[in-house]
Amino acid sequence: MTQTIFNNWKAEHSHLWGQIPVIQQHTLHQSSLFTDDALAELIENYPRADYSLVIPGRQDQDHHHKWREGDIGDASGAEVLKAIKEGFLWINLRNLPLNDPRYKQLTDRLFEEMQANVPGLKIKKSEMTLLVTSPGAQTYYHCDVPGQSLWHIRGRKKVYLYPALAPFLPEELLERVILQESEEEIPFEHWFDDHAQVLDLEPGTMVHWPQFAPHRVENHDSLCVSISTEYWTSEIERAYKVRYANGLLRRKFKIAPKSVDTTGATYLSKAILQSIWRRSGLAKKHIWSRKIEFELDPADPHNMLDITPFTLSPGNG
Ligand SMILES: [Fe+2]
Repeated sequence: MTQTIFNNWKAEHSHLWGQIPVIQQHTLHQSSLFTDDALAELIENYPRADYSLVIPGRQDQDHHHKWREGDIGDASGAEVLKAIKEGFLWINLRNLPLNDPRYKQLTDRLFEEMQANVPGLKIKKSEMTLLVTSPGAQTYYHCDVPGQSLWHIRGRKKVYLYPALAPFLPEELLERVILQESEEEIPFEHWFDDHAQVLDLEPGTMVHWPQFAPHRVENHDSLCVSISTEYWTSEIERAYKVRYANGLLRRKFKIAPKSVDTTGATYLSKAILQSIWRRSGLAKKHIWSRKIEFELDPADPHNMLDITPFTLSPGNG
């Protein structure tokens, strides 16, 4: 019998899923898909539009603007991994199920088990991203819109999870993230940590948190390999639509929304409003575009070669 991905599921987790952070044991760290050789091969052949190579923030730096994005250039997959292990970088590989059938199979299994374990969970759309990050790297305080889980596979990292409510995440700010007026990164106060749930993730541990819950991540002193998964359900879509409509009401119609209800007549009128707005052409179209400023030096993992910056966007990615 094939080994399951979740290997210590308890009945209580089915009730807690999506309500509070749920920590689970998993078996992905035993998979041959995440060895150095497998990762090197994957990175080497990955489509340009679907990876980001970034010099991230250090743990003593507060600001995202220090980030720089680069290109793997002529480096082999093994050289990219060496640069991440010995240097200060991260790479993420998006759309894994689309780009590699082995990860598609893994994603299908993972979400099948998740739905079997959580009665009523009906996933309409999902995604998996691989994250390979240097010792000491961090991901700044931010929130994600779909249902998110982080599956830790190699190394050790610390995850800080905060409640999905004000003052950690005021509704107005969430609306801005949903309307794509703001990046997912949001303002952070150091005292938020006094109220965070802090988890040390070891290989074989995953955590799933409530929708929109802000979080940040700090790597310990080791290369880290994780995957993040996200999914959309009808409930998650409704929570998205009501914030979208509330954001429109607040900004375009100068009406302060009073509710985030996802059922009833008020919700229905909000769902219609956001649908009309999004189809009308009035909605600001968010077209991604990223400035690429450096290239890896295959001869020296600590050296980044400055290049003439170019912009990566859907047309040329
Ligand atoms: Fe996130």
